[in-house]
This record gives sequence, C-alpha cells and structure tokens, in this order.
Amino acid sequence: MIDNDFAERPGYVLGHSDAELKRLMRQGAFYADLTEDVLRRAGLCPGTRVLDIGCGAGDVSLLAARLVGPSGLVVGVDRSEQAIALARARVDRAGFSWVRFVVAELETFVCNETFDALIGRFVLLYLSDPATRLRALARHLRSGGIVAFQEMDMHFAHSVPEAPLFRQCLHWIINVFEKARFEPDMGSRLFATYLCAGLPAPRMIATGRLEGGPDSPAYEYLAETVRSLIPMIERFDVATAAEIGIETLAARLREEAVAGNRCIFPPLLIGAWSRWHLPETEANGGAAPA
Ligand SMILES: C[S@@+](CC[C@H](N)C(=O)[O-])C[C@H]1O[C@@H](n2cnc3c(N)ncnc32)[C@H](O)[C@@H]1O
Repeated sequence: MIDNDFAERPGYVLGHSDAELKRLMRQGAFYADLTEDVLRRAGLCPGTRVLDIGCGAGDVSLLAARLVGPSGLVVGVDRSEQAIALARARVDRAGFSWVRFVVAELETFVCNETFDALIGRFVLLYLSDPATRLRALARHLRSGGIVAFQEMDMHFAHSVPEAPLFRQCLHWIINVFEKARFEPDMGSRLFATYLCAGLPAPRMIATGRLEGGPDSPAYEYLAETVRSLIPMIERFDVATAAEIGIETLAARLREEAVAGNRCIFPPLLIGAWSRWHLPETEANGGAAPA
C-alpha cells in the first residue's frame, strides 16, 4: 500500500545506487569551488583536524584534505558502505594518507578523537532533528572548534525567462523532499539550526551557479537527480516514470534552455560557520559560574 502521508520518514531519499554515486561526484564537481570557499572562510587551513559528516562519495572530504594537508586529518562518516568504499578508493588514488572513513549512523556515531572542525554538505536536511544532532556532534570538537555546513535552498532555483520543463523537474524534486519530510530549504534554516544547537550565530554566505547554453553540466546534473529520486517520485505519486522520460530528460532540458537563451539558476547554496565553545559550567570544571 502506498502511504502518502508517510507516518514513518524514509531514512534517505536518493539511495546509493551506482548511478547515485556518480551523481554525487557530478554534483561535487559542479559545486566544488563554492564549497571550498566556505571551508576557507570558516578557517580550515594546514594542520586542521576535520570531521566530515554525511561524507557520501568523499567529495567534501577530498576538498578538506587538500586544505588541511598531510599535517591535518580528515575523518569522513557515512551510513552507506558503498559510498564509503568509493570514497576510500578515491582518497587512495589521490594518495591522501591523512584521510580516513567510518561507516556509521550519525544518530549514534561517537568517537574518542578530538577535532578542530566539524563540517558537512547537503546532510543536515536528512537528520530528523538537525539541531540536536549538531549539538551532540560538536562535542567531538575542542573548545573554539569550527562548525561549517553548506546546504541548499531549492526554492530559489528558477530560470529567466521561465522554463516549463526545468520548473517541472524542480516541482518533482521539491515535492518528494517535502513529502518525505526533508527540508528543501535547509540552507535558509541553518541560522536557526545553529542557534538551537547552542552555537553562536553563524556567519553566512549564499552562493550559486548561473548556467545556460549547450555546454552547461546543469542539465545532466538535474536529470540525474531526478533519476535517483524516481523510486520516491513514484512511491509518493508525484509523477510516473513515463511522464518523466528519464532517458531523454537531460537533452530536453538542454534544448529548452538553449532555444530560449535561458539563464538557469540551480538551487542556492548557503554556507554557515561558527565556533563551538565548551559550556561555561564545564569549562570551569563543573563549577557554576560565580
Ligand atoms: C546528498 S549526500 C551528500 C554527500 C556529501 N556530503 C557531498 O556533499 O558530496 C548525503 C549523504 O548523507 C548520508 N546520510 C544521510 N543521513 C545519514 C545518517 N543519518 N547517518 C549517516 N549518513 C547519513 C547519506 O548516506 C549520503 O551519502
């Protein structure tokens, strides 16, 4: 039976098929410079010890590894064994011996190492209570450690002039995320999430790509995102595979953009960074402040 109200939230909507792992790497390349910019602004530098949560195929871990260098450390955590196997192979190929990966659920993950930075991209939206989890995971930081995240706000995606097929794809994607109870505007919720986690108000930046013309990678990226979501799109009765026509979707998106000289705005990325400090009572060795 299809349960459109979904009493139980699905753990993750995109799955971990080979196609999805390839899509993650495509997405990683598409947004690499925008993510690196946030990590630099947040303060990652040679020697930083980093915990990357929801690391997937390792794209953010690889970016962080380049910034922190061999005197630093990166530990990536993800629940998917397939994603972690791919991440390990990529790190081995790059020769980054200062990067390690752990298969674990973020809800229960604990480790006895101390880090200088807790980072993640496109992951907080999948956690049922991101602020509580952030608060718990920040306990892995030394006092003064960096907390830096980048998440999307899908509502800002649009095209000028308006592009019906592009709009339709966004509708399918946003609809599935909403029905699965994952926040499509997590990026814009980062400010409140940091405050609820007991972190100081973060500094933030919104960035995005502007795409158009025949050579943009945006059409494949969008179509592959829809491809990974097809099981959920069908499960939630958002559309049928026949309506989506996945095998020709990227070509039709390209044709639409090029024919109308359209400027495509993919989802906005919002980066936030702040520093975690040991609560005063604990900093005083458990004594209440005078
Ligand atoms: C959209 S991917 C992002 C991957 C990576 N951060 C990047 O930007 O390329 C989200 C990842 O978070 C992982 N994830 C989601 N919820 C999780 C949880 N509760 N515990 C562990 N991993 C989780 C998924 O397995 C997936 O690999």
